[in-house]
Amino acid sequence: MPSSKPRILIARRIFPEVVQRLSQHFEVQANDDDVQWNAQQLAAQLQDKDGVLTTGGQRIDAPLLAACPRLKIVANMAVGYNNFDVPAMTAAGVQGTNTPDVLTETTADFGFALLMATARRMTESEHYLRAGLWKNWSYDMFAGSEVHGSTLGILGMGRIGQGIARRGAHGFGMRVIYHNRSRLAAELEAECRASYVDKDQLLAEADHLVLVLPYTPESHHAIGAAELARMKPTATLINIARGGIVDDAALAQALAERRIAAAGLDVFESEPAVHPGLLQVPNVVLTPHIASATVPTRLAMANLAADNLIAFFTQGWALTPVNT
Ligand code: DGY
Repeated sequence: MPSSKPRILIARRIFPEVVQRLSQHFEVQANDDDVQWNAQQLAAQLQDKDGVLTTGGQRIDAPLLAACPRLKIVANMAVGYNNFDVPAMTAAGVQGTNTPDVLTETTADFGFALLMATARRMTESEHYLRAGLWKNWSYDMFAGSEVHGSTLGILGMGRIGQGIARRGAHGFGMRVIYHNRSRLAAELEAECRASYVDKDQLLAEADHLVLVLPYTPESHHAIGAAELARMKPTATLINIARGGIVDDAALAQALAERRIAAAGLDVFESEPAVHPGLLQVPNVVLTPHIASATVPTRLAMANLAADNLIAFFTQGWALTPVNT
């Protein structure tokens, strides 16, 4: 007899215990081989599915939705949901969900770690050591820039931005300035010890500029050649948001010409491909989109995505919807 349970697809390999949980509620098709389906292959997989758990790398847009009329919910295992065409999903009556909050502190930890590794030239100096080039002490060997007491600039002051502000202000005595679509409430600014400035002032005054804003058509290339030219030549740029926020070609050129001191990048415009210019310069720390990657946090993200599917099909509403 055919199962009466809703059918769901898990679009990438995730924790077996979460697959197990989902199997108690749904007829589950898991992707144990972790195949990265293209749009047509994903549409074929979703033909007979009521829901899907995505991981941020699967584009959910009007053509896919038109090809999958049975689909009712897409649960992203990520806080960012720029892989969703939200208006198209809303028009098709498809619920989208994300995983806010559970990754905030872990991602802020990583943002700060990347800032420190970049300012203090940790990976560049490690490569030098591993290559057997370290022969002696020298007064200026891998001399980097100061973190404590410097000016921390934050572009995008949501939950993760606030977490970075707190770390900088409370832990490292940094002066924190930020720019955001809207200004924080006075109590929150006081708690983060952060001052609101316009984008030009942020670019001009930050010693370390951290990007934590959502990727939207408006934030595409928010940091390009013109913005890089406004930054201090001693400044570092840290991107833990989305690759498309930075013009990677312009950044590679600015780094090569030392128009800014260094960059720390966890995300890339065409990831997993990395702009070749970035691979050629020494003054950049590169990591493969791992800011939320601790086992407890990734498990919490997977469980929240699963909870969204379960709540949607059993109670009729999602826990963390991105559209209504
Ligand atoms: C997120 O949650 O948006 C992270 O970038 C992981 O994809």
